[in-house]
Amino acid sequence: MQLKLNLIAAACGDNLGIGINGRLPWKLKDYGNEAIVCQSLQHVLATISKPDLCDIVENIWVIGGHAVYKAAMDHPNCSRIYLTYIKKDFECDAFFPSIPNNFIETSDNNIPSDIQEENGIQFLYKVYEKVSN
Ligand SMILES: NC(=O)c1ccc[n+]([C@@H]2O[C@H](COP(=O)([O-])OP(=O)(O)OC[C@H]3O[C@@H](n4cnc5c(N)ncnc54)[C@H](OP(=O)(O)O)[C@@H]3O)[C@@H](O)[C@H]2O)c1
Repeated sequence: MQLKLNLIAAACGDNLGIGINGRLPWKLKDYGNEAIVCQSLQHVLATISKPDLCDIVENIWVIGGHAVYKAAMDHPNCSRIYLTYIKKDFECDAFFPSIPNNFIETSDNNIPSDIQEENGIQFLYKVYEKVSN
């Protein structure tokens, strides 16, 4: 089975800001930090294709930033983009790349399609699927 690359990002404003000064423009929960360091997407795929990881990994979640998202969108294994549009402007110096025309908006039963709100900030989840390479 081909390993799927999926992008996941949250972006704000019309120009899809994702970061400022090497950090997120907003405060979110912390994530775990168990890591294997890889130098490229090819290195990631080669690492995960070997036992024992290949038995347990089906999806790879690409968590950015700009250059890594862009490389993942262009990669033949890229499947989906899960993008959260934050409906508030924050100062940003890093931005989500423009989504190429070979992605179309799709739906995902696990993802609510209506406007969400947390701490007074509205946001919208969108899912895009790559339809051709
Ligand atoms: N809102 C979100 O969802 C979100 C998600 C992620 C990050 N961010 C924010 O975005 C900012 C950082 O993003 P950025 O756009 O400046 O980062 P970026 O351009 O993607 O670069 C990040 C790192 O990835 C490496 N890199 C770039 N392309 C690569 C590739 N094809 N394969 C392997 N490694 C690659 C670069 O290493 P070299 O410099 O050595 O080439 C660099 O150290 C921060 O503020 C961060 O908090 C936000």
